[in-house]
Amino acid sequence: MRYGVRDQRRPLVFPRGFLWGAGTSSYQVEGGVTEGGRGPSIWDVFTGRPGTAHHGDTGKVACDQFHRYPEDVATMAKIGLPVYRFSVSWARVMPDGKHVSQAGLDYYRRLIDELRTKGIEPMVTLYHWDLPQALEDEGGWRSRALVRCFAAYAKIVHAALGDRVRYWITIDKPFCGAFLAYGSGLHAPGHGDPSAALLAAHHQMLAHGTAVAELRASAPPEHKFSLALSFSPALPENHEPENIDATRRFDGLRNRFFLDPLLGKGYPTDVLADAAQVADLGAAVKDGDLAKIAEPIDWLGVNYYAPTRIKRLADTNAPRECALPGFGGMSVAPPHGRLTAFGWEQHPDSLSDLLRWLNWETGGLPLVIVENGAAFDDTVAADGRVHDIERINYLREHLRAVHSAIERGVDVRGYIVWSFLDHFDWVAGYSKRFGIVHVDFATQRRTLKDSAYFYRDVIVGNAVPAIGASSG
Ligand code: BGC
Repeated sequence: MRYGVRDQRRPLVFPRGFLWGAGTSSYQVEGGVTEGGRGPSIWDVFTGRPGTAHHGDTGKVACDQFHRYPEDVATMAKIGLPVYRFSVSWARVMPDGKHVSQAGLDYYRRLIDELRTKGIEPMVTLYHWDLPQALEDEGGWRSRALVRCFAAYAKIVHAALGDRVRYWITIDKPFCGAFLAYGSGLHAPGHGDPSAALLAAHHQMLAHGTAVAELRASAPPEHKFSLALSFSPALPENHEPENIDATRRFDGLRNRFFLDPLLGKGYPTDVLADAAQVADLGAAVKDGDLAKIAEPIDWLGVNYYAPTRIKRLADTNAPRECALPGFGGMSVAPPHGRLTAFGWEQHPDSLSDLLRWLNWETGGLPLVIVENGAAFDDTVAADGRVHDIERINYLREHLRAVHSAIERGVDVRGYIVWSFLDHFDWVAGYSKRFGIVHVDFATQRRTLKDSAYFYRDVIVGNAVPAIGASSG
């Protein structure tokens, strides 16, 4: 372990101007799903079906940020957050997918004004998985028509909020919004069709590039555009040739499938060949699509939680846990070492390796970590505080990994911790707590966890404090 907690005796200072923040997404925190003219999203409909999210949980109320945003912004100010990353709900802004709701846009203007009065910079994600159900009814991301719909929606939001927002993320993780949503069926809208998953991924990548080109045409130069991709470095269980090949395949579809076209390299040919058993993406990729996907971005949003351990199964018909389309005979092996409450492996070395790999692959494109964090079983103690020492250790070790990458020349510009609040965590419902702020979902009471105090110290010092020097 290169970044163990025991060996940090000096503060690790980050570059001047480094962006520190915390993030959420609309369906996970807003609630108010029938208020302010909001229309139904695919997550409302999906969680209305039995057996989808844990315990039948839904985002109907979530953290009630729709009503409580002034309190939440005041809490952010207490932590000293310079940046708040949140997503706009497409279904709030365009309830039927076609017509604009001024009330929906006004909500985000109010939220942003509140942030600005506290000196907090908004970072807006235009799509974090909550598609208007009306658009899903017309084929959702399987339909190429969504590319134009998304670009039109993006322009509406940009026109309404562009005087107040500099940082823009088009789409959050097409891996989840396409593969989990249309391929494994684990996420809304819950389709289990590998070929639809690839199609949906292509359309999301195309929607991203199309929107960036159109937004940039009318945006002032200080507006910065990006896409958020999630990466899970693939680690082979052993070095037998079969395992190495399985690792290449996993890495191809999980990581390179999204990064390569963004960088103008097209879809990786080995991945297309692997996926050919389930889908031929060729027909969906029209002339000019790849150039549009490769529309230059200002920085890449990086989501990282954990690596994936890969092993090749002897039986290619065996059921598999891997959610990637067309991956018969591959299994995700159990994680190693310390785990989070989600069962995810804590492996900060993979983050610094990932950042160095991205630096190499992108030719030095600026990177912003837009999600990193961990779920633990936090409770409010008798002293009224939440002593989430495991999260502090997780953050410390991962920030240390980021710092190490920067020292080795990687251009990392910011770090957005996931998450600001405990929230509705998709299929895990309310059973997994990711926040640096605890939410009692019965009373909506917010309590700063010790990790929030730790993070406040990081922000104030622009450094990871030496062990023993933080108030967290
Ligand atoms: C998603 C978050 C989610 C987290 C944990 C990320 O990939 O973007 O919305 O809370 O995973 O499930």
